[in-house]
Amino acid sequence: MKLITAIIRAYQLDQVREGLIAAGISRITVSRVSGHGAQLTEEVYRGKKIIPGLIPKMRVEIAVNEEFVDTAVNAIIDAARSENEIKGEIGDGKIFITNLEECIRIRTGERGGSAI
Ligand SMILES: Nc1ncnc2c1ncn2[C@@H]1O[C@H](COP(=O)(O)OP(=O)(O)OP(=O)(O)O)[C@@H](O)[C@H]1O
Ligand SMILES: [Mg+2]
Repeated sequence: MKLITAIIRAYQLDQVREGLIAAGISRITVSRVSGHGAQLTEEVYRGKKIIPGLIPKMRVEIAVNEEFVDTAVNAIIDAARSENEIKGEIGDGKIFITNLEECIRIRTGERGGSAI
């Protein structure tokens, strides 16, 4: 099992959810987060350099069995990458994939892949 964590643009959340559902993935957790990526624009306030502000983003978490990893990742990329003749835009977000030790459905006590 894997945990897919995607940090995406807030306004692309509905599109990403739609894409995931179309790909057969309906179980997700979403939270409002903020952060910054590689680009840090220096800001000066009252003559002092300050660290740049945090940008609001959405974090989408999906726990899946191995065979759904590529499907989920591709659906997220297709929906979250900005329309552009070249290839997306700076700030389109990132996907992290981690091993998931265990999953337990509280209602039934099922564990592992069948609980997902
Ligand atoms: N290495 C990281 N660790 C934790 N959070 C990250 C990391 N990289 C990106 N993020 C989160 O993802 C959001 C979007 O990142 P972003 O798409 O700007 O990444 P990037 O590496 O700067 O790529 P790009 O050059 O395409 O902008 C950030 O605001 C931050 O919340
Ligand atoms: Mg960036």
